Amino acid sequence: MQLTSATPLLRRALAARYAIGGFNVQTLEMVQAVVETAQEERSPVILQFNPANIQHVGMAYAAALGRVAAAAVSVPVVLHLDHGADFTQAAAALRAGFTSLMYDGTPYPLEQNIAITTQVCQMAHAVGVSVEGEIGQMGGEEEGVFTAQGAGAMTDPQEALQYVEETGVDALAIAVGNTHGMRAATGSLDMKRITAVRERVELPLVIHGGSGVSDAAVREAIARGVCKFNVATQLNQGFLLGFQRSLQAHPDTTNPRAALAAAREQVKEAVRARMRLFGSSGKA
Ligand code: 13P
Repeated sequence: MQLTSATPLLRRALAARYAIGGFNVQTLEMVQAVVETAQEERSPVILQFNPANIQHVGMAYAAALGRVAAAAVSVPVVLHLDHGADFTQAAAALRAGFTSLMYDGTPYPLEQNIAITTQVCQMAHAVGVSVEGEIGQMGGEEEGVFTAQGAGAMTDPQEALQYVEETGVDALAIAVGNTHGMRAATGSLDMKRITAVRERVELPLVIHGGSGVSDAAVREAIARGVCKFNVATQLNQGFLLGFQRSLQAHPDTTNPRAALAAAREQVKEAVRARMRLFGSSGKA
């Protein structure tokens, strides 16, 4: 299939109370692992590149990988820019062929975040591409950047409503105790805050830091209206584990292909487990 916009998929997921994984990828094998598993699970899927990973593979390669991956399967695949840092980057991703954009204006004051998000929405919506915005400050580490979540940094439901009304975003990422880069899925979420946002905002809600959210918290968040979870660390851990094990088993090899294939298999298992937990398996 051709790459598709995220909005109809997320709206369907929200209505039927399941979530779609936004899986961060860094290599060809990770792209293959995500779409092959989506096909096997009959699950819609969001393939995402963040700016560091785009820098690693190149914007044109990232877009081409997404296009080829989508064409290889019959389930819907979205190619999403994760944590777009500015308008220019969003425009470059749009031109390259991404079908969904995130603009992350959380480092800036609310007015500035609203102003730039609005511009990104106007540009993306003109060509049928969806936009995810974010409000509130998450804690944790992503791509070497550490942020601590202070008490007042979680998403304020009233501010979320203002942001959504003024920008026109299609999906909203919220900070409700979720943390980027956790090594184990042990974290809980502020469920009351999710509901308080949901009571004001009827858009698809997104939780970043999906690797660190416990199974029970994932289920409850979905029941309260979260319909996209971003997952990066679990895939990275799987890739490195598969690669390492293969090298340990064949320390004298001069060919990286077996280790890359083992890495791909391990990523597939991580993706499969999350798709089943999110309830997206069988939904495409
Ligand atoms: P994790 O690395 O914690 O899964 O977070 C991924 C993420 O939120 C990407 O935007």
